[in-house]
Amino acid sequence: MEALFRKKSLTALMAQAEEKEHSLKRVLGAMNLTLLGIGGIIGAGIFVLTGQAAAQYAGPAIVLSFIISAIGCAFAGLCYAEFASMIPIAGSAYTYAYATIGELLAWIIGWDLILEYLFGAASVSVGWSGYVTSFLRDFGVNIPAALSQAPFSFSHAAGWTATGAIINLPAVFIIAAVTGLLVVGISESVAVNDFAVVAKVTVVILFIAFGVSYVNTANWHPFIPANTGTFGQFGWSGIARGAGVIFFAYIGFDAVSTTAQEAKNPQRDMPIGILASLAVCTVLYIAVALVLTGIVKYDQLLVPDPIAVGVNAAGPGLFWLRKFIKMGAIAGLSSVMLVLLLGQPRIFYAMSMDGLLPPFFSKVHPKFRTPHVTTMVTGAVAAVLGGLFPIGALGEMVSIGTLLAFAIVCASIIVLRKTHPELPRPFRTPLVPLLPALGVIVTVGQMLFLPLATWIRLIVWMAIGFVIYFLYGRHHSRLAPAKPDNWNK
Ligand code: ALA
Repeated sequence: MEALFRKKSLTALMAQAEEKEHSLKRVLGAMNLTLLGIGGIIGAGIFVLTGQAAAQYAGPAIVLSFIISAIGCAFAGLCYAEFASMIPIAGSAYTYAYATIGELLAWIIGWDLILEYLFGAASVSVGWSGYVTSFLRDFGVNIPAALSQAPFSFSHAAGWTATGAIINLPAVFIIAAVTGLLVVGISESVAVNDFAVVAKVTVVILFIAFGVSYVNTANWHPFIPANTGTFGQFGWSGIARGAGVIFFAYIGFDAVSTTAQEAKNPQRDMPIGILASLAVCTVLYIAVALVLTGIVKYDQLLVPDPIAVGVNAAGPGLFWLRKFIKMGAIAGLSSVMLVLLLGQPRIFYAMSMDGLLPPFFSKVHPKFRTPHVTTMVTGAVAAVLGGLFPIGALGEMVSIGTLLAFAIVCASIIVLRKTHPELPRPFRTPLVPLLPALGVIVTVGQMLFLPLATWIRLIVWMAIGFVIYFLYGRHHSRLAPAKPDNWNK
Protein backbone atom coordinates (compact mmCIF):
# COMPACT_ATOMS: atom_id res chain seq x y z
CA MET A 1 0.00 0.00 0.00
CA GLU A 2 2.81 2.37 0.95
CA ALA A 3 4.34 1.82 -2.48
CA LEU A 4 1.38 3.50 -4.13
CA PHE A 5 2.17 6.75 -2.36
CA ARG A 6 5.96 6.68 -2.61
CA LYS A 7 7.19 10.03 -3.82
CA LYS A 8 10.19 11.02 -5.81
CA SER A 9 12.39 13.54 -3.99
CA LEU A 10 13.09 16.83 -5.69
CA THR A 11 16.83 16.27 -5.24
CA ALA A 12 16.54 13.04 -7.20
CA LEU A 13 14.53 14.83 -9.87
CA MET A 14 17.14 17.49 -10.32
CA ALA A 15 19.98 14.97 -10.38
CA GLN A 16 18.15 13.05 -13.06
CA ALA A 17 17.74 16.14 -15.18
CA GLU A 18 21.51 16.50 -15.25
CA GLU A 19 22.25 12.86 -16.22
CA LYS A 20 24.45 13.01 -19.30
CA GLU A 21 23.67 9.70 -21.00
CA HIS A 22 20.01 10.57 -21.48
CA SER A 23 20.26 14.33 -21.67
CA LEU A 24 18.25 16.39 -24.13
CA LYS A 25 19.54 19.50 -25.87
CA ARG A 26 18.98 22.85 -24.10
CA VAL A 27 18.26 25.28 -26.93
CA LEU A 28 14.87 26.91 -26.25
CA GLY A 29 14.42 30.53 -25.12
CA ALA A 30 11.32 32.43 -23.94
CA MET A 31 10.28 33.35 -27.48
CA ASN A 32 10.59 29.75 -28.74
CA LEU A 33 8.54 28.55 -25.80
CA THR A 34 5.80 31.10 -26.38
CA LEU A 35 5.67 30.18 -30.06
CA LEU A 36 5.55 26.50 -29.10
CA GLY A 37 2.57 27.27 -26.88
CA ILE A 38 0.78 29.15 -29.65
CA GLY A 39 1.82 26.36 -32.02
CA GLY A 40 0.05 23.85 -29.81
CA ILE A 41 -3.06 25.94 -29.22
CA ILE A 42 -4.41 27.49 -32.44
CA GLY A 43 -5.75 24.67 -34.59
CA ALA A 44 -8.83 22.56 -35.14
CA GLY A 45 -10.60 24.23 -32.24
CA ILE A 46 -10.79 27.68 -33.80
CA PHE A 47 -10.70 26.60 -37.46
CA VAL A 48 -13.33 23.84 -37.14
CA LEU A 49 -15.20 23.74 -33.84
CA THR A 50 -16.06 27.44 -33.30
CA GLY A 51 -18.75 27.51 -35.95
CA GLN A 52 -20.29 24.24 -34.84
CA ALA A 53 -20.43 25.37 -31.22
CA ALA A 54 -22.01 28.70 -32.19
CA ALA A 55 -24.57 27.07 -34.49
CA GLN A 56 -25.58 24.28 -32.14
CA TYR A 57 -25.15 25.58 -28.61
CA ALA A 58 -24.42 29.24 -27.96
CA GLY A 59 -25.09 31.52 -30.95
CA PRO A 60 -23.10 34.81 -30.81
CA ALA A 61 -22.67 34.15 -27.09
CA ILE A 62 -19.97 31.67 -28.11
CA VAL A 63 -17.84 34.69 -27.26
CA LEU A 64 -18.85 34.17 -23.62
CA SER A 65 -18.09 30.43 -23.94
CA PHE A 66 -14.59 31.37 -25.07
CA ILE A 67 -14.19 33.69 -22.07
CA ILE A 68 -15.43 31.04 -19.59
CA SER A 69 -13.18 28.38 -21.04
CA ALA A 70 -10.25 30.80 -20.96
CA ILE A 71 -10.81 31.49 -17.27
CA GLY A 72 -10.63 27.75 -16.47
CA CYS A 73 -7.48 27.44 -18.58
CA ALA A 74 -5.94 30.50 -16.93
CA PHE A 75 -6.35 28.86 -13.48
CA ALA A 76 -4.69 25.71 -14.79
CA GLY A 77 -2.07 27.74 -16.69
CA LEU A 78 -1.01 29.60 -13.53
CA CYS A 79 -0.67 26.31 -11.65
CA TYR A 80 1.33 24.78 -14.50
CA ALA A 81 3.57 27.86 -14.48
CA GLU A 82 4.38 27.40 -10.78
CA PHE A 83 5.18 23.71 -11.22
CA ALA A 84 7.13 24.13 -14.46
CA SER A 85 9.38 26.78 -12.92
CA MET A 86 9.84 24.76 -9.72
CA ILE A 87 10.24 21.26 -11.22
CA PRO A 88 11.50 21.81 -14.78
CA ILE A 89 11.42 18.18 -15.88
CA ALA A 90 10.14 16.79 -19.19
CA GLY A 91 7.37 14.75 -17.56
CA SER A 92 5.15 17.80 -16.91
CA ALA A 93 2.06 17.04 -14.82
CA TYR A 94 3.18 13.43 -14.42
CA THR A 95 6.38 14.53 -12.69
CA TYR A 96 4.60 17.16 -10.59
CA ALA A 97 2.27 14.47 -9.24
CA TYR A 98 5.19 12.11 -8.59
CA ALA A 99 6.91 14.72 -6.46
CA THR A 100 3.79 15.74 -4.56
CA ILE A 101 1.18 13.04 -4.19
CA GLY A 102 2.87 9.79 -5.07
CA GLU A 103 3.56 7.11 -7.63
CA LEU A 104 0.08 5.77 -8.31
CA LEU A 105 -1.39 9.18 -9.00
CA ALA A 106 1.65 10.05 -11.10
CA TRP A 107 1.03 6.93 -13.16
CA ILE A 108 -2.65 7.80 -13.50
CA ILE A 109 -1.86 11.28 -14.76
CA GLY A 110 0.90 10.03 -17.07
CA TRP A 111 -1.47 7.48 -18.56
CA ASP A 112 -4.18 10.14 -18.77
CA LEU A 113 -1.87 12.56 -20.61
CA ILE A 114 -1.68 10.03 -23.45
CA LEU A 115 -5.28 11.02 -24.13
CA GLU A 116 -4.33 14.66 -24.40
CA TYR A 117 -1.20 14.40 -26.49
CA LEU A 118 -1.37 11.20 -28.50
CA PHE A 119 -5.14 11.19 -29.06
CA GLY A 120 -4.98 14.98 -29.52
CA ALA A 121 -2.49 14.65 -32.38
CA ALA A 122 -4.61 11.90 -33.94
CA SER A 123 -7.80 13.97 -33.82
CA VAL A 124 -6.09 17.04 -35.29
CA SER A 125 -4.70 14.87 -38.11
CA VAL A 126 -8.30 14.10 -39.11
CA GLY A 127 -9.09 17.85 -39.24
CA TRP A 128 -5.90 18.42 -41.25
CA SER A 129 -6.97 15.76 -43.72
CA GLY A 130 -10.31 17.54 -44.23
CA TYR A 131 -8.66 20.91 -44.95
CA VAL A 132 -6.00 19.44 -47.26
CA THR A 133 -8.55 17.43 -49.23
CA SER A 134 -10.64 20.57 -49.72
CA PHE A 135 -7.57 22.70 -50.58
CA LEU A 136 -6.40 20.19 -53.21
CA ARG A 137 -9.93 20.04 -54.63
CA ASP A 138 -9.69 23.79 -55.32
CA PHE A 139 -6.79 22.92 -57.63
CA GLY A 140 -8.65 20.04 -59.32
CA VAL A 141 -6.91 17.26 -57.34
CA ASN A 142 -9.45 14.85 -55.90
CA ILE A 143 -8.53 12.35 -53.21
CA PRO A 144 -11.27 9.67 -53.22
CA ALA A 145 -13.43 9.54 -50.08
CA ALA A 146 -12.42 5.89 -49.56
CA LEU A 147 -8.86 7.08 -48.98
CA SER A 148 -9.50 10.32 -47.12
CA GLN A 149 -12.13 9.39 -44.55
CA ALA A 150 -12.34 7.28 -41.44
CA PRO A 151 -13.57 3.70 -42.00
CA PHE A 152 -15.54 3.94 -38.75
CA SER A 153 -17.98 6.58 -37.61
CA PHE A 154 -19.57 7.09 -34.22
CA SER A 155 -22.75 8.78 -33.07
CA HIS A 156 -24.14 8.72 -29.54
CA ALA A 157 -27.48 7.54 -30.96
CA ALA A 158 -26.33 4.80 -33.39
CA GLY A 159 -22.97 3.76 -31.88
CA TRP A 160 -20.15 2.60 -34.16
CA THR A 161 -20.84 1.98 -37.87
CA ALA A 162 -18.66 1.24 -40.91
CA THR A 163 -18.52 4.10 -43.43
CA GLY A 164 -17.24 2.07 -46.39
CA ALA A 165 -14.01 4.07 -46.50
CA ILE A 166 -10.70 2.18 -46.28
CA ILE A 167 -8.33 4.56 -44.52
CA ASN A 168 -7.77 8.26 -43.93
CA LEU A 169 -4.50 8.43 -45.82
CA PRO A 170 -3.71 12.17 -45.51
CA ALA A 171 -4.05 11.84 -41.72
CA VAL A 172 -1.54 8.97 -41.69
CA PHE A 173 0.78 10.91 -44.00
CA ILE A 174 0.93 14.06 -41.88
CA ILE A 175 1.55 12.14 -38.64
CA ALA A 176 4.40 10.25 -40.33
CA ALA A 177 5.90 13.49 -41.68
CA VAL A 178 5.71 15.30 -38.33
CA THR A 179 7.16 12.27 -36.53
CA GLY A 180 10.11 12.17 -38.94
CA LEU A 181 10.82 15.83 -38.26
CA LEU A 182 10.65 15.33 -34.50
CA VAL A 183 13.15 12.46 -34.66
CA VAL A 184 15.64 14.60 -36.56
CA GLY A 185 15.89 17.34 -33.96
CA ILE A 186 14.39 19.77 -31.51
CA SER A 187 15.94 22.80 -33.26
CA GLU A 188 14.60 21.71 -36.66
CA SER A 189 11.16 21.02 -35.18
CA VAL A 190 11.07 24.39 -33.47
CA ALA A 191 12.10 26.17 -36.70
CA VAL A 192 9.19 24.55 -38.57
CA ASN A 193 6.85 25.38 -35.71
CA ASP A 194 7.92 29.04 -35.69
CA PHE A 195 7.18 29.30 -39.41
CA ALA A 196 3.76 27.61 -39.05
CA VAL A 197 2.85 29.84 -36.10
CA VAL A 198 3.67 33.00 -38.02
CA ALA A 199 1.56 31.74 -40.95
CA LYS A 200 -1.50 30.87 -38.88
CA VAL A 201 -1.41 33.91 -36.63
CA THR A 202 -1.09 36.14 -39.71
CA VAL A 203 -4.16 34.53 -41.24
CA VAL A 204 -6.15 34.89 -38.03
CA ILE A 205 -5.17 38.56 -37.72
CA LEU A 206 -6.02 39.20 -41.39
CA PHE A 207 -9.45 37.67 -40.81
CA ILE A 208 -10.06 39.87 -37.78
CA ALA A 209 -8.65 43.05 -39.35
CA PHE A 210 -10.47 42.79 -42.68
CA GLY A 211 -13.55 40.99 -41.41
CA VAL A 212 -14.43 43.63 -38.83
CA SER A 213 -15.59 46.12 -41.47
CA TYR A 214 -18.09 43.53 -42.78
CA VAL A 215 -19.75 43.00 -39.41
CA ASN A 216 -23.49 43.53 -39.42
CA THR A 217 -24.45 44.14 -35.80
CA ALA A 218 -27.94 42.75 -36.49
CA ASN A 219 -26.28 39.30 -36.55
CA TRP A 220 -25.44 39.72 -32.86
CA HIS A 221 -29.13 40.03 -31.92
CA PRO A 222 -30.15 38.17 -29.92
CA PHE A 223 -26.66 37.82 -28.46
CA ILE A 224 -27.84 34.95 -26.24
CA PRO A 225 -30.50 33.09 -28.26
CA ALA A 226 -33.32 31.75 -26.09
CA ASN A 227 -32.97 28.19 -24.85
CA THR A 228 -34.95 25.75 -27.04
CA GLY A 229 -36.26 23.85 -24.04
CA THR A 230 -33.46 21.30 -24.23
CA PHE A 231 -30.58 21.66 -21.80
CA GLY A 232 -27.45 22.86 -23.62
CA GLN A 233 -29.22 24.23 -26.67
CA PHE A 234 -28.76 27.99 -26.38
CA GLY A 235 -29.46 30.16 -23.35
CA TRP A 236 -27.03 29.95 -20.42
CA SER A 237 -26.81 26.15 -20.50
CA GLY A 238 -25.85 26.44 -24.18
CA ILE A 239 -23.05 28.84 -23.27
CA ALA A 240 -21.76 26.31 -20.73
CA ARG A 241 -21.91 23.47 -23.24
CA GLY A 242 -20.22 25.69 -25.82
CA ALA A 243 -17.44 26.35 -23.30
CA GLY A 244 -16.98 22.58 -22.90
CA VAL A 245 -16.75 22.06 -26.65
CA ILE A 246 -14.34 24.86 -27.42
CA PHE A 247 -12.14 23.93 -24.45
CA PHE A 248 -10.40 21.81 -27.09
CA ALA A 249 -9.30 25.05 -28.77
CA TYR A 250 -7.16 26.02 -25.75
CA ILE A 251 -5.42 22.69 -25.25
CA GLY A 252 -1.71 22.83 -25.97
CA PHE A 253 -0.32 25.61 -23.76
CA ASP A 254 0.61 23.01 -21.17
CA ALA A 255 2.74 21.14 -23.73
CA VAL A 256 5.31 23.90 -23.24
CA SER A 257 6.10 22.34 -19.85
CA THR A 258 7.19 19.04 -21.45
CA THR A 259 10.15 20.82 -23.05
CA ALA A 260 11.51 21.98 -19.66
CA GLN A 261 14.68 19.93 -20.11
CA GLU A 262 15.30 21.57 -23.46
CA ALA A 263 14.82 25.13 -22.19
CA LYS A 264 17.88 27.29 -21.57
CA ASN A 265 16.43 28.99 -18.50
CA PRO A 266 13.33 27.01 -17.53
CA GLN A 267 12.84 28.70 -14.14
CA ARG A 268 12.26 32.05 -15.81
CA ASP A 269 10.99 31.08 -19.25
CA MET A 270 8.49 28.29 -18.55
CA PRO A 271 5.91 30.64 -16.95
CA ILE A 272 6.43 33.14 -19.78
CA GLY A 273 5.89 30.49 -22.47
CA ILE A 274 2.79 29.03 -20.83
CA LEU A 275 1.03 32.25 -19.83
CA ALA A 276 1.98 34.43 -22.81
CA SER A 277 0.81 31.85 -25.35
CA LEU A 278 -2.46 31.39 -23.49
CA ALA A 279 -3.03 35.15 -23.26
CA VAL A 280 -2.31 35.79 -26.95
CA CYS A 281 -4.61 33.00 -28.08
CA THR A 282 -7.43 34.06 -25.74
CA VAL A 283 -7.46 37.55 -27.23
CA LEU A 284 -7.36 36.20 -30.79
CA TYR A 285 -10.13 33.67 -30.12
CA ILE A 286 -12.50 36.23 -28.62
CA ALA A 287 -11.89 38.60 -31.53
CA VAL A 288 -12.43 35.83 -34.12
CA ALA A 289 -15.64 34.73 -32.43
CA LEU A 290 -16.98 38.30 -32.37
CA VAL A 291 -16.12 39.01 -36.01
CA LEU A 292 -17.33 35.63 -37.27
CA THR A 293 -20.72 35.80 -35.60
CA GLY A 294 -20.97 39.44 -36.72
CA ILE A 295 -20.41 38.58 -40.40
CA VAL A 296 -22.52 35.40 -40.56
CA LYS A 297 -25.76 34.58 -38.80
CA TYR A 298 -24.76 31.88 -36.30
CA ASP A 299 -27.26 29.33 -37.63
CA GLN A 300 -25.27 29.08 -40.87
CA LEU A 301 -22.07 28.05 -39.17
CA LEU A 302 -22.62 24.29 -38.81
CA VAL A 303 -19.85 23.58 -41.31
CA PRO A 304 -16.35 22.06 -41.18
CA ASP A 305 -14.70 25.34 -42.31
CA PRO A 306 -16.53 28.17 -40.50
CA ILE A 307 -13.84 30.81 -41.01
CA ALA A 308 -13.89 30.23 -44.77
CA VAL A 309 -17.68 30.48 -44.68
CA GLY A 310 -17.31 33.78 -42.84
CA VAL A 311 -15.05 35.10 -45.61
CA ASN A 312 -17.52 33.96 -48.28
CA ALA A 313 -20.39 35.67 -46.49
CA ALA A 314 -18.48 38.95 -46.39
CA GLY A 315 -18.71 39.02 -50.20
CA PRO A 316 -16.31 39.40 -53.14
CA GLY A 317 -14.27 42.05 -51.31
CA LEU A 318 -12.78 39.32 -49.10
CA PHE A 319 -12.61 36.41 -51.58
CA TRP A 320 -8.83 36.85 -51.90
CA LEU A 321 -8.55 35.71 -48.29
CA ARG A 322 -10.14 32.30 -48.89
CA LYS A 323 -7.04 30.39 -50.01
CA PHE A 324 -4.98 32.02 -47.27
CA ILE A 325 -7.48 30.83 -44.69
CA LYS A 326 -7.10 27.24 -45.85
CA MET A 327 -3.32 27.54 -45.94
CA GLY A 328 -3.34 29.11 -42.47
CA ALA A 329 -5.51 26.28 -41.17
CA ILE A 330 -3.26 23.63 -42.73
CA ALA A 331 -0.17 25.27 -41.21
CA GLY A 332 -1.97 25.75 -37.91
CA LEU A 333 -3.12 22.17 -37.60
CA SER A 334 0.36 20.92 -38.56
CA SER A 335 1.99 22.86 -35.74
CA VAL A 336 -0.57 21.57 -33.23
CA MET A 337 0.36 18.00 -34.16
CA LEU A 338 4.01 18.90 -33.98
CA VAL A 339 3.70 20.25 -30.45
CA LEU A 340 1.49 17.41 -29.20
CA LEU A 341 3.73 14.76 -30.74
CA LEU A 342 6.68 16.56 -29.18
CA GLY A 343 5.05 16.48 -25.75
CA GLN A 344 3.97 12.84 -25.63
CA PRO A 345 7.39 11.19 -26.07
CA ARG A 346 8.87 13.45 -23.41
CA ILE A 347 6.29 12.23 -20.91
CA PHE A 348 7.00 8.60 -21.85
CA TYR A 349 10.69 9.47 -21.55
CA ALA A 350 10.19 10.73 -17.99
CA MET A 351 8.07 7.69 -17.05
CA SER A 352 10.70 5.37 -18.45
CA MET A 353 13.52 7.19 -16.62
CA ASP A 354 11.54 6.49 -13.44
CA GLY A 355 11.25 2.81 -14.33
CA LEU A 356 7.46 2.88 -14.80
CA LEU A 357 7.87 2.13 -18.51
CA PRO A 358 10.55 -0.08 -20.13
CA PRO A 359 14.02 1.46 -20.64
CA PHE A 360 13.80 1.72 -24.44
CA PHE A 361 11.26 4.54 -24.00
CA SER A 362 14.03 6.78 -22.64
CA LYS A 363 16.59 6.03 -25.34
CA VAL A 364 18.03 9.24 -26.75
CA HIS A 365 19.42 9.28 -30.29
CA PRO A 366 23.22 9.67 -30.09
CA LYS A 367 23.34 12.25 -32.88
CA PHE A 368 19.95 14.01 -32.84
CA ARG A 369 19.62 14.00 -29.02
CA THR A 370 15.88 13.37 -29.31
CA PRO A 371 13.93 10.54 -27.63
CA HIS A 372 13.67 8.86 -31.03
CA VAL A 373 12.27 5.43 -30.09
CA THR A 374 9.34 6.80 -28.09
CA THR A 375 8.76 9.49 -30.75
CA MET A 376 8.36 6.76 -33.36
CA VAL A 377 6.17 4.57 -31.17
CA THR A 378 3.94 7.57 -30.43
CA GLY A 379 3.79 8.51 -34.11
CA ALA A 380 2.90 4.96 -35.18
CA VAL A 381 0.00 4.70 -32.72
CA ALA A 382 -1.28 8.20 -33.55
CA ALA A 383 -1.15 7.38 -37.27
CA VAL A 384 -3.26 4.25 -36.76
CA LEU A 385 -5.83 6.19 -34.68
CA GLY A 386 -5.93 9.11 -37.14
CA GLY A 387 -6.22 6.72 -40.08
CA LEU A 388 -9.16 4.80 -38.65
CA PHE A 389 -11.32 6.93 -36.35
CA PRO A 390 -13.50 10.05 -36.68
CA ILE A 391 -12.54 13.38 -35.13
CA GLY A 392 -15.55 13.62 -32.78
CA ALA A 393 -14.92 10.46 -30.76
CA LEU A 394 -11.18 11.13 -30.58
CA GLY A 395 -11.70 14.80 -29.63
CA GLU A 396 -14.00 14.00 -26.70
CA MET A 397 -11.39 11.64 -25.28
CA VAL A 398 -8.85 14.44 -25.58
CA SER A 399 -11.04 16.90 -23.71
CA ILE A 400 -11.90 14.59 -20.82
CA GLY A 401 -8.28 13.48 -20.46
CA THR A 402 -6.93 17.02 -20.46
CA LEU A 403 -9.55 18.29 -18.02
CA LEU A 404 -8.64 15.50 -15.60
CA ALA A 405 -4.95 16.40 -15.88
CA PHE A 406 -5.68 20.09 -15.27
CA ALA A 407 -7.80 19.27 -12.21
CA ILE A 408 -5.02 17.13 -10.70
CA VAL A 409 -2.39 19.81 -11.39
CA CYS A 410 -4.52 22.48 -9.68
CA ALA A 411 -5.13 20.22 -6.67
CA SER A 412 -1.41 19.34 -6.46
CA ILE A 413 -0.47 23.02 -6.11
CA ILE A 414 -2.54 23.22 -2.92
CA VAL A 415 -0.99 19.99 -1.60
CA LEU A 416 2.59 21.07 -2.30
CA ARG A 417 2.14 24.47 -0.67
CA LYS A 418 1.12 22.57 2.50
CA THR A 419 3.69 19.76 2.38
CA HIS A 420 6.69 21.73 1.05
CA PRO A 421 6.15 25.42 1.79
CA GLU A 422 9.93 25.94 1.91
CA LEU A 423 10.70 25.01 -1.72
CA PRO A 424 11.94 27.81 -3.95
CA ARG A 425 9.17 28.87 -6.32
CA PRO A 426 10.47 31.15 -9.08
CA PHE A 427 6.83 31.68 -10.08
CA ARG A 428 4.01 31.62 -7.54
CA THR A 429 0.37 31.03 -8.43
CA PRO A 430 -1.56 33.93 -6.88
CA LEU A 431 -4.35 33.48 -4.31
CA VAL A 432 -3.60 29.89 -3.25
CA PRO A 433 -5.72 27.94 -2.27
CA LEU A 434 -8.64 29.91 -3.76
CA LEU A 435 -7.45 30.09 -7.34
CA PRO A 436 -6.38 26.42 -7.74
CA ALA A 437 -9.58 25.35 -5.95
CA LEU A 438 -11.61 27.30 -8.50
CA GLY A 439 -9.49 25.61 -11.19
CA VAL A 440 -10.54 22.19 -9.87
CA ILE A 441 -14.21 23.23 -9.72
CA VAL A 442 -14.25 24.63 -13.27
CA THR A 443 -12.41 21.70 -14.86
CA VAL A 444 -14.38 19.01 -13.06
CA GLY A 445 -17.55 20.96 -13.89
CA GLN A 446 -16.64 20.89 -17.57
CA MET A 447 -15.99 17.14 -17.37
CA LEU A 448 -19.51 16.63 -16.03
CA PHE A 449 -20.91 18.19 -19.22
CA LEU A 450 -19.28 15.50 -21.41
CA PRO A 451 -21.37 12.54 -22.62
CA LEU A 452 -21.64 9.28 -20.69
CA ALA A 453 -19.95 7.28 -23.48
CA THR A 454 -16.85 9.43 -23.09
CA TRP A 455 -16.81 8.78 -19.34
CA ILE A 456 -17.09 5.04 -19.95
CA ARG A 457 -14.15 5.16 -22.38
CA LEU A 458 -12.13 7.12 -19.84
CA ILE A 459 -12.82 4.49 -17.18
CA VAL A 460 -11.86 1.65 -19.54
CA TRP A 461 -8.69 3.51 -20.54
CA MET A 462 -7.76 4.02 -16.89
CA ALA A 463 -8.47 0.36 -16.09
CA ILE A 464 -6.00 -0.69 -18.81
CA GLY A 465 -3.50 1.72 -17.25
CA PHE A 466 -3.95 0.16 -13.80
CA VAL A 467 -3.30 -3.34 -15.17
CA ILE A 468 -0.04 -2.18 -16.77
CA TYR A 469 1.03 -0.38 -13.60
CA PHE A 470 0.42 -3.34 -11.32
CA LEU A 471 2.01 -5.83 -13.73
CA TYR A 472 5.04 -3.74 -14.68
CA GLY A 473 5.54 -0.22 -13.29
CA ARG A 474 5.16 -1.00 -9.60
CA HIS A 475 7.95 -3.60 -9.66
CA HIS A 476 10.31 -1.78 -12.01
CA SER A 477 9.96 1.66 -10.43
CA ARG A 478 13.27 3.21 -9.47
CA LEU A 479 11.68 3.80 -6.08
CA ALA A 480 11.01 0.09 -5.58
CA PRO A 481 13.08 -1.09 -2.56
CA ALA A 482 14.78 -3.88 -4.52
CA LYS A 483 16.09 -1.63 -7.29
CA PRO A 484 19.90 -1.20 -7.13
CA ASP A 485 19.67 2.42 -8.31
CA ASN A 486 16.84 3.36 -5.95
CA TRP A 487 16.53 7.15 -5.95
CA ASN A 488 15.92 7.22 -2.21
CA LYS A 489 19.33 5.78 -1.38
N1 ALA B 1 -5.89 23.45 -29.30
C1 ALA B 1 -5.61 22.53 -30.33
C2 ALA B 1 -6.52 22.70 -31.49
O1 ALA B 1 -7.45 23.46 -31.41
C3 ALA B 1 -5.62 21.12 -29.83
O2 ALA B 1 -6.30 22.08 -32.51
